[in-house]
Amino acid sequence: MKILVVGGGGREHALVWKLAQSPTVTDIIAAPGNAGIAELARCLPVAADDIKGLVRLASEERCDLTVIGPEIPLTMGIADRFADEGLAVFGPSKSAARLEGSKWFAKELMQRAGIPTARAWATASREEAISHVRELGAPVVIKADGLAAGKGVMIAASEDEAISAIDAVLTEGRFGAAGSHVLVEEYLEGEEASILAFTDGRRIAALAPSQDHKRALDGDRGPNTGGMGAYAPAPVVDKRMLADIERDVIMATVRTLAEEYDAEYRGVLYAGLMITDDGPKVLEFNCRFGDPETQVVLPLLDGDLAEIMMSVAVGELDPSSLGVTDQAAACVVMASGGYPGAYEKGKRIHGLEIAGSMEGVVVFHAGTADSKGATVTAGGRVLGVTGTGPALPDALDRAYAGVAAISFDGEHHRTDIAHRALENTEDPKTGGRDGA
Ligand code: AMP
Ligand code: GLY
Repeated sequence: MKILVVGGGGREHALVWKLAQSPTVTDIIAAPGNAGIAELARCLPVAADDIKGLVRLASEERCDLTVIGPEIPLTMGIADRFADEGLAVFGPSKSAARLEGSKWFAKELMQRAGIPTARAWATASREEAISHVRELGAPVVIKADGLAAGKGVMIAASEDEAISAIDAVLTEGRFGAAGSHVLVEEYLEGEEASILAFTDGRRIAALAPSQDHKRALDGDRGPNTGGMGAYAPAPVVDKRMLADIERDVIMATVRTLAEEYDAEYRGVLYAGLMITDDGPKVLEFNCRFGDPETQVVLPLLDGDLAEIMMSVAVGELDPSSLGVTDQAAACVVMASGGYPGAYEKGKRIHGLEIAGSMEGVVVFHAGTADSKGATVTAGGRVLGVTGTGPALPDALDRAYAGVAAISFDGEHHRTDIAHRALENTEDPKTGGRDGA
């Protein structure tokens, strides 16, 4: 099988790494890829949102399957264009990708299907939005409807703050077209978890529950980022809860999309959940793999990723063809100084080979580039160092040993990845995974 992977971050490096382990894969191309991906795949300079260029590339190179990493090409309809050309693609159609592209659409679907989620209202009217804020009281969550690169969610501690957030979306147009409507949403309390599941539109197969760390600094302080680290399995979701989520959230969503919206979802569906005292509730859907969740769930996937993705693309997923190992994985993101604000690029990265040769350590590149034979920083999130081991503490030790071997000017990372799992665990050796 010859596979094209679209994207160039840590998520795509993890996808390429797992695909390269498949005995049926003969050749991998990445567009545009990065310096780490280049060790496993041929990287070609076609941008992830250049849909015409990607269709042409997949046709000319006679790729058997194209895997779409990021959400933007999916919400633009790349899967539909590939299907039009008879090219196999892993990723949902434009109409199914509305689950991520429009928070309003996702909320309407969940309300219709009775999927547990925060109460919310969507409106283009400032007055109406404010009256819902008064109804819910603070804290309250204000969201721009469309894609806003993770910046469209504002948690307002007071009603005044909520009104400023509504104005930022509706009046000041800070989110452009993504802000034509605003969602006023009930604030949920609890611990977050991510469930990623393969689906061909009819059947589903979930990966290990994981947890991301969105804040820049230890103790969940500082600004929001794309994700500073992740671990799996997250003990906050035990086996029974996972089964409930598979049935009441993932399956219910896929079925409702097909039955009520005539949209067949083929790809990976990502549910971001808040585990509240009343059980899991959906915060958001993504129509793609999470980053950095992918860097911890794929090392725990027991199965042939290329075969699984192809079976999803052609609508013949066999959930029994994959499983989840009983290992644990943790990923620590090494970021550029200043990230998520402004940062410098082009810093030379030292120690990659040493870290990469450690047992149970894989270094995934996120924002890197090759400069005259040296690997240099080229993004805010630079690397994701994943450790895998029999239990979470082993995985963490390995990840942090890898991090300690690597350096670059201005580097920063969190030192408390998986702190919630460790705090909630009675027996730290098991990482809480026997608590199911
Ligand atoms: P989203 O992009 O919808 O996942 O939101 C980004 C982050 O905002 C989430 O990971 C949560 O930390 C937080 N968030 C979103 N919706 C809510 C909510 N209804 N209640 C509390 N926190 C929320
Ligand atoms: N890690 C969060 C996301 O991929 O959206």
